[in-house]
Parts: sequence; C-alpha cells; structure tokens
Amino acid sequence: MQRVEQEIARLIKEIDYDEVTHLFSMLSGGKRLRAKLILKIASSDERAPLLAAIVELIHGASLLHDDVIDESHTRRGVASVNATEGSKTAVMLGDILYSKAFSELVSFDRDIAKVVSSSVTALSKGEMQDVKLAQIFNSDEDKYLDMLYLKTATLIEASAIAAALLVGKDIQTYGLYGRNLGLSFQIIDDILDITSDAVTLGKPSMNDYVEGKCTLPYIYLYQALDDADKQRLVFSHAKSIDTDEALWIKEKMEEHQSIERAFKLAHELSHEAMEAVSDDHALVSILDTMIKRSY
Ligand code: IPE
Ligand code: IPE
Ligand code: MG
Ligand code: MG
Ligand code: MG
Repeated sequence: MQRVEQEIARLIKEIDYDEVTHLFSMLSGGKRLRAKLILKIASSDERAPLLAAIVELIHGASLLHDDVIDESHTRRGVASVNATEGSKTAVMLGDILYSKAFSELVSFDRDIAKVVSSSVTALSKGEMQDVKLAQIFNSDEDKYLDMLYLKTATLIEASAIAAALLVGKDIQTYGLYGRNLGLSFQIIDDILDITSDAVTLGKPSMNDYVEGKCTLPYIYLYQALDDADKQRLVFSHAKSIDTDEALWIKEKMEEHQSIERAFKLAHELSHEAMEAVSDDHALVSILDTMIKRSY
C-alpha cells in the first residue's frame, strides 16, 4: 500500500499545480478498498501499485463530483471540498483527477485501459440514474439494483478484471468476484447510512432518505407496511426528517426486519463472491472486512 500512496503522490505532483497539490492534501485517503483489491489480485506485477493509484484517483474524482451532486458537506470525516471551496472547485478538481488518471491508464494494455475507462462511463450513468430515481419514492428493487451495479459495482468489477488481466488470471472469475463484492459493498453502505452514527460514518447519518434515495431497507420497509404507514413513509421522502420521524422509521424497520433483509442480500452476494475465489485467502478476507465494517 505504501507503493500505492507513493504513486498517488507522484501523479498529483506531475499535475504540476500547487493549488491541486494543496487541495488534494486536504482529502483523506479513505479505505482504499479498490487499491487493496488490485494489489491482492496482481501482487506479482510491479505495475500493480500504479494501476491501483489510477483507480483511487478515479474513485476520488467520483466522490468529489458525488458530493456536489448530493450536496453533501461531509466526506471521510471532514468537510467536503464543495463545502469548503465551493462546488466549482470540487468539479474542476474532479476533472483534473479523472483526466490525469485516464492519461496514465493509456500506458497499460488496451484491454486494461478499456475496462477501467468504460467503468467510469457506467459509474456516471449510475449517478444519473441515482438522481433520477430519487425524484420520486422508488419502490422498485430491480431498478435500484441496476443503478447500484452501475454506480458502485462497475468500478470495483473493473478493478478486479484489470488486475486479473495484468497477471493473466481468469477475468470471468475475478469479474464475478468484483461485481458481487461491489454490489454487496454498496448495500452495506446503504445500511450503514441508517444504522451507524455520523461520527463513525464521517458523513451525516440517515442522509440518503433526506436526499431522496430509497435504498434497499426503505424499499423493503415500504413493501411490508400497511397503506396508512406507506403514506407516512412516502410523505417524509426527500425532506429533512426530525428525530421523531427518524425514530419511527427505525422502529418500523426493526419491526419488519428491513435491515436484516437487506443485509441478507448483501451476505448472499458476498458469499457468491467468496465462492468465486475461495482458495484465495487474501480476497476472502477483503470480503470479510467489508461485510463487518462500520463505516
Ligand atoms: C464511497 O466509497 C462511495 C461508495 C461507493 C459507497 P468508499 O466507501 O470506498 O469510500 P472511501 O474511499 O473509503 O472514502
Ligand atoms: C456512491 O454513492 C458514490 C459513487 C459511486 C461515486 P453514494 O452517494 O451513496 O456515496 P456516499 O454515501 O456519498 O459515500
Ligand atoms: Mg453521496
Ligand atoms: Mg450519490
Ligand atoms: Mg451512501
């Protein structure tokens, strides 16, 4: 991982703009899940740290843009760039990170460059769908999962495939692993938004629903409620909710085991991912940590 951090620092320095170096230094690194995945799959290749650094720049850019899109003021436990420097700066910094990542990516084989760059198109389509789905209360689980695959799983899937390509491993196997890990990862992120507190999360809790995002626990809750309660739930959609309403939602979720249902799906997906790579302990342990994480 130290090599990855060095590569990230080198790429940022190459951008050759003090303002960017300064802004980037204000971002904390995050969990580096995608980088770890690449290092574990392609450990034998000396270019794995560079590939991992590129993917982390892409991921960082997507978060800068995501916080503008979601109007989120906290990221990785500190104020987001859009909160402190304004949305324009966050968008421009995101553009710089994306384009730097792409120009580095072309030094890899064509199929690697293609799979990673295409996943950014998918991610961006997913972000658009996420915004669209948030406009009205969405109770369609399939639509939600399709969006989630694009928004989050494709970059993780592409990271796994790209790493496999780098060392000549089977792309079907690692693609399946990455895809299911990615889906499971976002479902857990959605659950944590409800069950975890703001300090642990590094961003406000129960914010998804305020933003209009009907994540799986909300979809499952809706399915389980009677008509009057359905109405009450839909009424608080995409509004700032007070403590009483938040408590009501959490109580109803507990009554109908909505979180457990979502967690069960995350578990199943994670299990499928595990089966794909069952003989690789390092990859299994990434899944394990991911499922058990609290932020
Ligand atoms: C945040 O990703 C956005 C999602 C896809 C849920 P991470 O949870 O991997 O973010 P960092 O990099 O660790 O902050
Ligand atoms: C994930 O979506 C963002 C990207 C994949 C770019 P979210 O909007 O759920 O991510 P958080 O919750 O802000 O980290
Ligand atoms: Mg967001
Ligand atoms: Mg978002
Ligand atoms: Mg989230």
